[in-house]
Amino acid sequence: MAVGIEGIDMSRVPAHVACVMDGNGRWAEKRGLARTEGHAAGEEALFDTVEGALEVGLSWLTVYAFSTENWSRPVDEVRFLMNFNEQILTRHRDDLNGKGVRILFSGRRDWRVPRRLLRHIEQSEALTATNRRMTLNFAFNYGGRAEIIDAVRRLVADNVAVGKVDDKAIRARLYQPAMPDPDLVVRTSGEYRLSNFLLWEVAYSEMIFTDVLWPDFRREDLFDAIREYQGRDRRFGGVQAKKRRGRGR
Ligand code: FPP
Repeated sequence: MAVGIEGIDMSRVPAHVACVMDGNGRWAEKRGLARTEGHAAGEEALFDTVEGALEVGLSWLTVYAFSTENWSRPVDEVRFLMNFNEQILTRHRDDLNGKGVRILFSGRRDWRVPRRLLRHIEQSEALTATNRRMTLNFAFNYGGRAEIIDAVRRLVADNVAVGKVDDKAIRARLYQPAMPDPDLVVRTSGEYRLSNFLLWEVAYSEMIFTDVLWPDFRREDLFDAIREYQGRDRRFGGVQAKKRRGRGR
């Protein structure tokens, strides 16, 4: 076993970790601050997690940044979140590009996203398109059901015959057809649900729920989650996987 950072087996690092960045509002309320201050504090958590993901060698990190249901939040918070996501891009894209990170956005682009933000999204994706060290995928204006509905609409638009509708045909029409399914989903803030996140893709993902509120989340929390993941047996509906621990690999 190639032991790396803090006891992580570097030969079995998950390829794709997906995070539900939850608890910003509660973090702020506990401090008597506006909810938006909690989102602002979540930026440091996000980029420390990105650094950790790079250190440990993840190929994909997906973060849930805004759901199709989040439009029902107070109008001021929605407005803040649109500007905030734009600022995150303008503040970090050059640094991410320099580090070999590809930026992607997954979600509905033709519905409600402000035009200026959409331009920043497209520019950031174009700037980083050839980077291969890691992909940072923002699930933005994203809903798992919306993604499946959009895939079905495309199947119909493509005139796919009933008998040809299978796993592969649907996957090819998801927002990121080349994205591997998340090996691990981490949700912060002590909530035990998916909230419409990557419904198709999480079929066999391992789930880790932590009480840490997102603004307090740091790379060490990611490493904890990866260690816990490495102690799990993934069977994908089959029989128990070979015992890996204690076998020197
Ligand atoms: C799901 O819970 C959580 C999300 C969709 C994440 C939302 C994240 C933000 C608004 C802040 C993003 C922060 C950064 C740093 C970019 P939910 O509240 O949508 O669903 P629930 O009602 O089931 O809990």
